[in-house]
Amino acid sequence: MSREATSGPGPTRAWVLHPDLKSDQGRRMAEHRLAEAVSLAGALPGLEVCGSDIVRLSRAQPGTLFGSGKVKELGDRFKQAGIDLVLVDGPVTPVQQRNLEKEWGVKLLDRTGLILEIFADRARTREGVLQVELAALSYQRTRLVRAWTHLERQRGGFGFVGGPGETQIEADRRAIDDQVIRLKRQLDRVVKTRELHRAARRKVPFPVVALAGYTNAGKSTLFNRMTGAEVLAKDMLFATLDPTMRGVVLPSGRKVILSDTVGFISDLPTQLVAAFRATLEEVLEADLILHVRDISHPETAEQAADVMEILGALGVRAEVPVLEVWNKLDLVDAPAREPLMAAAALRADVLPVSALTGEGLDRLLEVVSEHLGEERVPRDLVLPFEQGRKRAWLHEQGLVTAETETETGWALSVLWTARQERAFRAL
Ligand code: GTP
Repeated sequence: MSREATSGPGPTRAWVLHPDLKSDQGRRMAEHRLAEAVSLAGALPGLEVCGSDIVRLSRAQPGTLFGSGKVKELGDRFKQAGIDLVLVDGPVTPVQQRNLEKEWGVKLLDRTGLILEIFADRARTREGVLQVELAALSYQRTRLVRAWTHLERQRGGFGFVGGPGETQIEADRRAIDDQVIRLKRQLDRVVKTRELHRAARRKVPFPVVALAGYTNAGKSTLFNRMTGAEVLAKDMLFATLDPTMRGVVLPSGRKVILSDTVGFISDLPTQLVAAFRATLEEVLEADLILHVRDISHPETAEQAADVMEILGALGVRAEVPVLEVWNKLDLVDAPAREPLMAAAALRADVLPVSALTGEGLDRLLEVVSEHLGEERVPRDLVLPFEQGRKRAWLHEQGLVTAETETETGWALSVLWTARQERAFRAL
């Protein structure tokens, strides 16, 4: 089973292989996993995906991953199609990589390498860039046996992908370790400044609504719809590696900060978890999470389960409400639509929408307003020392955003709802 795309001039001609191992045939169909890998590869600039295959395997061969007949067959095909780069959607050991590259005369990238390239291409914040570099270094370190031979470094990325050009990466372990130390130091500093920014933002009396969801679910499109902003919504995975935030006035008049986050993917290689987490921390700060789902996707249930699992692992507080946005309603065909809408109607936490046509958006905005509860307003207070009990109450309720001691008492800044203010006055 082989799909060939029309060929055209492109700097790197790539072929995607999805090894379908008997041992890890899980809940996801190999066809969908391959499609996701092709989509990931397609998100890389300067790369043309010329074809893709699912390779069924009863077990991985230690030396070449695939059996010898398959290696030969694939090699012939790559030669014919003039392939420079083979992307294997799964783990490939350094030995397998070396052997296959030699056998096929191509450069090979496994799933981790591919995702690293994409993260590198998409990282926007300083922290995102540093985390990705760190992950790339540790990945590279495990592969030093082959020392990055015939594929040279090209513009951008880490040089995992590229054609002939500058000299290759020839770092030895020590150099890598030194660089890791340097990066970690920079990262420490970046994290500290970010915490300052965050503390500053906490004083802003606007709740944060975070969009989270599987890659390609339509988060950026929905973000743009809701904010009316002109931001990129390409059919590209990871178009949003670092969170984008924007203020929005809801129809109720309520102001909120809407935050877009990087798309989730299944089987994120463990080395990449920190880089991914760094881009997702905004979710932890959110007052409300909108879990955007592509409800038209055949594996929408599996994707949703993955997202919820990752959110849990990130440490999202249980009291933060999560609303499910069932997006791409326009792609659901007529017979499926009715039961879908009926299922949605049974759940108060589900909002069917189409970010593309705008269907369901008004209701979504309404429900967001409802979920945010009462509006909080900032106020400055001065309390004399005798009113220590009142001050303690404010702290207990978590309303104090800043406090300084004066000669006669405390000067406090608080952020509270009208109801909390009344309770305070009644003390
Ligand atoms: P990542 O950045 O990879 O996480 O993706 P994302 O979730 O931000 O998705 P994005 O908004 O980039 O949308 C992915 C693709 O789906 C784009 O081609 C959108 O045009 C398309 N899309 C988004 N929402 C809808 C929708 O409601 N209907 C249809 N038909 N397409 C949509």
